[in-house]
Amino acid sequence: MSTLTKISTIYFSPSSTTKKIAEKIASYFEGSVEIHDLLMYEDDGEIKEFGDFDIVVVGMPVFAGRIPEIARKKLENFKGVDVPAIAFVNKGNANLGDALLELTDILKENGFNVVGAGEFISQHSIFTEVAKGRPDEKDLERINEFAVKCKSKIEDHVKCDVEVPGNKPYCEYKVVPFKAVCDESLCTFCYDCVSVCPHDAISDDDPVLTDHEKCDGCSACVFICPEDARSFNSEIFNQTEPVFVEKFSKRQEPEFYF
Ligand SMILES: Cc1cc2nc3c(=O)[nH]c(=O)nc-3n(C[C@H](O)[C@H](O)[C@H](O)COP(=O)(O)O)c2cc1C
Ligand code: SF4
Ligand code: SF4
Repeated sequence: MSTLTKISTIYFSPSSTTKKIAEKIASYFEGSVEIHDLLMYEDDGEIKEFGDFDIVVVGMPVFAGRIPEIARKKLENFKGVDVPAIAFVNKGNANLGDALLELTDILKENGFNVVGAGEFISQHSIFTEVAKGRPDEKDLERINEFAVKCKSKIEDHVKCDVEVPGNKPYCEYKVVPFKAVCDESLCTFCYDCVSVCPHDAISDDDPVLTDHEKCDGCSACVFICPEDARSFNSEIFNQTEPVFVEKFSKRQEPEFYF
């Protein structure tokens, strides 16, 4: 692989685990790295075209069996005819749904040559007792295996036709009923949560206030808050949590598709 190669990571990662995996995969390649963090990316409709010497690593979290709607829209601006793409989704040890199919479909429609697709598991960003601490050492070994195999496929310069699990039409995109709330007694008014929210759901006059019509429970504000002032604390969350933790307690393992 030429040192002229540019590796671009494209990810949406409210609680940072998808970002971590994308960076790990990118680290197996030589060349310069370009980062496209879709959480912070302003969608002005401008198309980004990749070309010769580009490789992209695209990672998305699974939201209710799909990729997050806002991330999907932003990803549609990234195109590259026959540019090698490594695709993965990152789930919280619950259901995959049609997320990986949706992701590989978008990339193929936008011209990319999807050389490998992965399904990884990380700590659940809402129910954090599920898959706690993942990705762990065992996951990192599997990420290594996946990256090495993808690298050899790229070196072979073949047009790939990766098949992944999922159905069409995709399952309906449902917004979860868990909304972020703020404990005013802990808030120090640093406004980090306001800057990170992809839906502009937190008031920039008073970050204690969150518009629950806009909030999709992505978890970005909960993870960025330095004071642990933000959480999903609510009646419905407290009722659901023990049931969910029990239901998804059995460890799932990563899967790859080539
Ligand atoms: C709104 C929402 C919906 C989710 N739905 C699913 C799901 O359907 N299946 C699953 O396994 N995990 C689900 N998760 C968990 C995330 O996919 C998982 O924690 C992922 O690692 C988060 O990635 P991040 O750290 O990059 O934000 C959901 C998380 C959120 C916030
Ligand atoms: S307020 Fe809701 S949408 Fe905004 S960052 Fe927090 S969880 Fe995500
Ligand atoms: S990130 Fe936390 S401390 Fe900072 S304004 Fe938001 S809720 Fe308050």
